[in-house]
Amino acid sequence: MNSLNDQSTELRKPRVVILDDEPEILDFLKYLLIRNGNDVFTFTSGAAALEAIELDPPDIILLDITMPEMNGYQVCETIKQNPKLKEIPVVFLSALITTENKIKGFRAGGVDYITKPCQPDEVLARVGTHIKLGRAEALLRHKNEHLEQTVLERTAELQLDIEKRIFVESQLALQIASTEKAFIYTVYALARAAEANDEDTGNHILRVGDFSAIIATQLGLDDDFIQAIHLQAILHDVGKIHTPPEIFKKMGKLTDEEFAMMKEHTFSGSMIIGRNEKLTIGRSIALTHHEKWDGSGYPRGLEGEQIPLEGRITAIADIYDALRSSRPYKAAFDHDRAYRIIIEGDGRTKPEHFDPAVLNAFKEAADQFEEAYQSLKG
Ligand code: C2E
Ligand code: SIN
Ligand code: SIN
Ligand code: FE
Repeated sequence: MNSLNDQSTELRKPRVVILDDEPEILDFLKYLLIRNGNDVFTFTSGAAALEAIELDPPDIILLDITMPEMNGYQVCETIKQNPKLKEIPVVFLSALITTENKIKGFRAGGVDYITKPCQPDEVLARVGTHIKLGRAEALLRHKNEHLEQTVLERTAELQLDIEKRIFVESQLALQIASTEKAFIYTVYALARAAEANDEDTGNHILRVGDFSAIIATQLGLDDDFIQAIHLQAILHDVGKIHTPPEIFKKMGKLTDEEFAMMKEHTFSGSMIIGRNEKLTIGRSIALTHHEKWDGSGYPRGLEGEQIPLEGRITAIADIYDALRSSRPYKAAFDHDRAYRIIIEGDGRTKPEHFDPAVLNAFKEAADQFEEAYQSLKG
């Protein structure tokens, strides 16, 4: 399989093995074939020929049929049963070529016959043809085997690559999913920690996430933003963890000093959330959800589009929910009253506080606010 390439096949002298029990025929054929460019090896016994052929397979074998020990058919069958030798063409030499002999010869695996006494031209023609044919077939076999082997190897490599990649990708997908779950869990845990300080706000923080997502959806914002604001808006009041609890529990109006302390929850929240890339929206919301479009909000009195969009959205979500809820300082209002306070104002809240586009989205999605409130009541 390795030494067999076009060049060596072309350059090497054809090797012919002749087996016949009659020395005169052996000599005649030997010199005829040597003169015509072949290497010739002659044998008078089947056993000796088989041994030599096995050691060094020739390009063609000429076999006498009638011999004392093993006859030609038996020798041929032995050769054909040997995987290493079975492709070597065998040509029978016979004086009596009857139909029966021919059939026996082909059954034994022979490819052709040469009639004795041998005609030189016939011998050279048949031997030459079968050597060429045999070599062409060997070449083809070799190339096919090589091709098959290459295809098998490449297929196995590809299969392995694909399996490796599928494994890595599935591991990665699992890791990503579990990291994402852990992230969401941590955000909720942080939001709950701050809630403990506030007076009985129930599902307030979750509802603010839902309301913010409703507005963002109504504004036609992209899915990543909607998902981020949905989750991270629940962190808007995380800074209240630093506010003295008495402030929220107070039945009446806050003093200026208390109000000033309360306002600090915006800065505290942004500091608690910090500067993690995955929480930029949450940080921005904590800092800006009490800013107002007309510049009258806190902590920095930002105006218009100076206020990040997530802050403008969460402002309405937060106020709507505060209006719907009972606080130590106020009773719960129904949807229509909350809606009217936001759209028309009530002296404390004014329409100018809100980004007109966000206010309009709230107006258009108002039914969904009532639904979301009912499903997360308490
Ligand atoms: P909160 O109670 O969750 O209210 C959030 C926001 O909803 C308020 O922000 C305000 O913009 C709006 N809001 C709440 N209740 C009403 C209302 O009855 N009418 C109108 N028009 N708007 C309302 P704000 O004012 O910056 O207050 C921030 C937080 O400070 C409040 O959260 C609450 O925890 C506390 N707070 C505000 N006012 C008082 C008060 O008079 N007494 C007490 N004990 N706490 C107050
Ligand atoms: C939430 O419902 O507040 C968070 C869910 C999410 O958007 O991943
Ligand atoms: C609330 O969201 O609970 C009310 C106002 C605030 O954000 O502090
Ligand atoms: Fe707040």
